Formats: sequence, structure tokens, C-alpha cells
Amino acid sequence: MRVRRCAVLYLEPRERVEFDLAGLLSGGSGARRSREWVAHAPHLEQPVALGTAERDLLAELSPETWTPEETLAGWSEGTLDALLDAGLVIAETAAEGQRRIHAQRDVRLRAGHWWAPAAMLHRAARWSGQDAAAATEAAGLSTAVGLRENLGPPPPAVPARGGHGPRLALARTIEPEGFDALLRRRTTCRNFDPRRALPQESLARMLERVFAAHGSWQADEDTVFLKKGSPSGGGLHPTGAYLLVQRVEGVAPGLYHYHPLDHALEPLAVPAEPLDGLAARMVAGQHWFANAPLLVVMATRFARCFWKYRQHPKAYRAVVMDAGHLSQTLYLAATDLGLGAFVTCAINEADIEQAFGLDPLEEGAMAVCGFGWRAEEMRNAEFDPGGRVWPRQAV
Ligand SMILES: Cc1cc2nc3c(=O)[nH]c(=O)nc-3n(C[C@H](O)[C@H](O)[C@H](O)COP(=O)(O)O)c2cc1C
Repeated sequence: MRVRRCAVLYLEPRERVEFDLAGLLSGGSGARRSREWVAHAPHLEQPVALGTAERDLLAELSPETWTPEETLAGWSEGTLDALLDAGLVIAETAAEGQRRIHAQRDVRLRAGHWWAPAAMLHRAARWSGQDAAAATEAAGLSTAVGLRENLGPPPPAVPARGGHGPRLALARTIEPEGFDALLRRRTTCRNFDPRRALPQESLARMLERVFAAHGSWQADEDTVFLKKGSPSGGGLHPTGAYLLVQRVEGVAPGLYHYHPLDHALEPLAVPAEPLDGLAARMVAGQHWFANAPLLVVMATRFARCFWKYRQHPKAYRAVVMDAGHLSQTLYLAATDLGLGAFVTCAINEADIEQAFGLDPLEEGAMAVCGFGWRAEEMRNAEFDPGGRVWPRQAV
């Protein structure tokens, strides 16, 4: 057998702190501190705690060239086996079981042209089964007052800069109507009307405005570039839309993929759990978003961007920015139609990927948006200091 190290690996010297009652009673701090090595690899679901022998063997192995097992005779068999089982070392001919799955995922990661720190960041930032709403509430961080009380004052809203000459005051040219008014009405919606379904026409209009290609250019038989309403790094438009539909007239509740050239919804497998539970899990317990008529998962096909920007330090930033541009277009498109909209990246990516059948190293959820009719009553705070959306609540 020949082996090599997995493609991307980061080692963390982690300090573990445990409660130590005996130490506390004998006059100590009550905290027992110990250190361990932890391996992080983007093709694995979880970090792996390492012994020093395992750490040293990892440092010995090339991630590129295959090393015959016989040349590792100085290392105990248990050390190599533990690393093979954990997926940190890959066997050239991993025939079956978990080792084979690790080997396949390592190959897919290599083929994806990820810049290694970005692959690690993307993997490490994914959540599964988190209830961010409850955690924020429990920490007293769900209101501005609570934030100030618990965290102290934030850095100033506007930094004081300048000092190299007199200030140049600029003319205020904002118009009361049109695009300027639209920008001022844009307010994150946290109060959807739970009874009012969205007309299919509005859904179609929104998807066409935000996610449809309104032009394309065929550079070669197999090479097509799309034109959309938002900019995209390299013009590659790697981010598409998956929908969880709850209340849209003429569209059966369920999961869909949106086809941006044909402007069509492609039904996906019906999830095993009720849609409202899945919706809440997708947005990490944020009930103020979960009851929107539909949720839109913005999912990026990384290989489409990294095909051009191979192992490029800026490529991940570009796809994150792409998602940001799409969400702003979605906000403005919704506001223009009299609808409320939101975006959140406090999402359970792993649960979303499982529900929609996405492999996170190939196609990952970056954010979730939604839109629909606002409720008449504000139950959850929205930031509308000008009273443009909620005139009666204006402050
Ligand atoms: C990247 C991003 C992530 C956000 N995530 C959340 C979120 O998890 N929960 C939430 O209630 N609002 C979220 N928002 C909305 C912001 O809280 C909101 O934009 C901000 O409070 C300003 O309000 P406005 O959008 O009405 O101007 C997010 C916005 C952005 C751009």
C-alpha cells in the first residue's frame, strides 16, 4: 500500500480549559488547562484530536507524492492506521468503507481548485442544527439595549478622519420619489403575514429580476457566459437559487431549483420532515424569517468560479460578494413590488445541503433570502427610523 497526506491540513495547538473542583478547593483558580493538537481538514466533517506521534507522522508525509507503507516502518502501525481511519492520510487504493469515502472527498477537494485557507474557512464556518435565535436571546444580545449592556459601547458609527485641509461639504441631491425613495424604503422584513400567500406572478417577477439570465454569450460549444442583473466576479455567476416554497399560489409547497436560462422551477425530492420545521432549521431558529412565503437558498457552485480563479486568494471573497450583490438586488426588487425581503447568513448550511442534496465542497449554501407580504402589525423589530415602512411606529 502507498499513502499520502490529505490535500489540505491545518494543525492547531489548542488549549482545553476544564472545571477543577479539587483545585478550586485547594486555593487554585478552578480551571485545569491542558494542551492538545487538533487537525482541521476541509474534506472532513469534524476536527480530529491528535497525539504527538500522529502529528509528527503527518508532518513527514507529502500531500502530493505517494509513500510506500514499508518506508514508514519506524512508525507504529497504530499511528498510521489511526490517521487512515480519520481521513488525514489517504491510501492510494482505499477499497471500502469510511477510508474510501475520505479518499473520494480528498480527490474532489483537489479537483475543486480551492485556495486552501478558503476551503478551511468555508468548512469551519458551516453550522448544523444551531438555534442562533435562542442563543442570541439567552446571551441578552437580541436588542440594541442588551448589546450595549453586555458588550459595552461599539466602535463609533463614523470614524473621525481628515485633518489635511478644510472639509468639502457636498450637495444633497436625493429626490423624494423614484430610485432614491426605493432605497430609503428598503428595510429588512421580520414580520411576514403568515396567512397571505404570494401570487405566482410575484414569485416569477422576483426570480426573473434577481436570478434569471437576461442574456448569454456562447464563447465555445461548451462555454457559456450569462448576463444577469447583478455583477459577478469573472462574469461567471456561480451562485444560483434553491427554493423552499411554503405559500405561493399555484406552486405546490416543496423544494425547487430555479433554472436561470429557462426561467423555470425544477421540483426536488420531497423532504422527510415538515416544511415549516425545515424552514426554521435553515434559518437557525429565526422564526421572524422562517414563516416567509418562500425561502431562497443562495448556493454557490465553487468550481464555476475557481475554474478561472484557481487556488486564487481572492476567489472566495468574490463569491461571497456575489451573494451580497444578489441579496441587495433581491431587496430592491421586492421593495419595488411592495414586498418585504430579508437576507441572513446565520444559517444551518449542513442541514440545507442535506435537504437540497448539495455537496458543500462543490455547491455550498452562502446565505438565505426570502420575500413576501408584510404583516399589518410589527411583532419583531425592524429598523425603519424614517417611518417609511411602518409610519405609525416611526421614531
Ligand atoms: C450579510 C447579512 C446578514 C444578515 N443576517 C441577519 C440575521 O441573521 N438576522 C436578522 O434578523 N437580520 C440579518 N440581517 C439584516 C440586518 O440585521 C439588517 O440589514 C440591519 O439591521 C439593518 O437594517 P435594514 O436592512 O432594515 O437597513 C443581515 C444582513 C446582512 C447584509
